[in-house]
Amino acid sequence: MKGIEKIKLIELPTIPDLRGNLSIVEEMDEIPFKIERVYWIYDVPGGQVRGGHAFRKQQEMIIALSGSFDVFVDDGTTQKTFSLNRSYYGLYIPAGLWRQMQNFSTNSLAMVLSSTHYYVEDYIRDYNEFVTLSMNHE
Ligand code: TYD
Repeated sequence: MKGIEKIKLIELPTIPDLRGNLSIVEEMDEIPFKIERVYWIYDVPGGQVRGGHAFRKQQEMIIALSGSFDVFVDDGTTQKTFSLNRSYYGLYIPAGLWRQMQNFSTNSLAMVLSSTHYYVEDYIRDYNEFVTLSMNHE
């Protein structure tokens, strides 16, 4: 299976309620990894782009808790864009994919559930290096 085909847009369990809805993620259940870190991106000025790199080991799930944004992914040969605009969908991205977040709406809030702590060495920020590495893994 190619890297890009391993990405999954997962509908999260949701409890609808007239008092307000509630959605759930549990590690090793909706997400196929243990959560070691959670971070979130907010107050993104219009037109700004986040990400623009790949991770060697980090697997992640990205959820648009509020507002909307696009997640552009690339496995070195194929590209795809996922639009996230509902807080009950999680985008699962395995390791080894280039990814970029863009087109943030006003007041959008992106939560990232990560399988690793922050390691600067886990980042591949050079696109040519990423393409070379992804070819060697095929
Ligand atoms: P970075 O991951 O490059 O942001 P993005 O991919 O969303 O554009 O992180 C931006 C800065 O924040 C960078 O200096 C590293 C730091 N950072 C941490 O210290 N810990 C973390 O968990 C994360 C995600 C980033």
